[in-house]
Amino acid sequence: MKFFVDTAEIDAIAELNDLGMVDGVTTNPSLILKSGRDILEVTREICDLVDGPVSAEVVATEAEAMIAEGRRLAGIADNIAVKVPLTWDGLKACKVLSGEGQMVNVTLCFSVNQALLAAKAGATFISPFIGRLDDINLDGMELIADIRTVYDNYGFETEILAASIRSVNHVAEAARIGADVMTAPPAVIKALANHPLTDKGLEAFLADWAKTGQKIL
Ligand code: E4P
Repeated sequence: MKFFVDTAEIDAIAELNDLGMVDGVTTNPSLILKSGRDILEVTREICDLVDGPVSAEVVATEAEAMIAEGRRLAGIADNIAVKVPLTWDGLKACKVLSGEGQMVNVTLCFSVNQALLAAKAGATFISPFIGRLDDINLDGMELIADIRTVYDNYGFETEILAASIRSVNHVAEAARIGADVMTAPPAVIKALANHPLTDKGLEAFLADWAKTGQKIL
């Protein structure tokens, strides 16, 4: 499973990237707002730092304007994936941009039918939002499983990018189902290392070690 980090914070990306945990980055207008940075500047910095796809989202709502914004974002670096919303205009923009050889991430996907449309429009990534479905008491993970089944049924190559991940359990479940990629905030990626039995075991080992009176260095 590829790990994308869902943030526009350079320091957090760099820390995870140094550990080899970053296969790509996703941003959105809310994350750009949170960073307090200029979209073009911060996206360029992220692209310089990370080898994999960096999603940058258009904000126009009509296809022609989305395509123009997408081309502008794509001009930042070769590893840009233009992010478009899953609307009819977004699908038109996806078709044109992907036809030009551009990576496209179709975002805000909440149904298997939407995912089918994105694949047929040539999307590189489809981003089903798990957490936001869970927020309204629907099963986000069921959507990931349904898209996996449908894409496998017909051999679609669009990668399933499990998005809106809020917990370590979301990561494990999406991996079990076979999502190609997951994107999560840095804190969730770091929390994947945590287990109470690890902490307890380490505490016991260190206590016993102290009793030996030995030193390694
Ligand atoms: C990623 O591409 C999405 O923008 C992101 O995962 C949304 O997450 P949220 O629902 O927690 O805002």
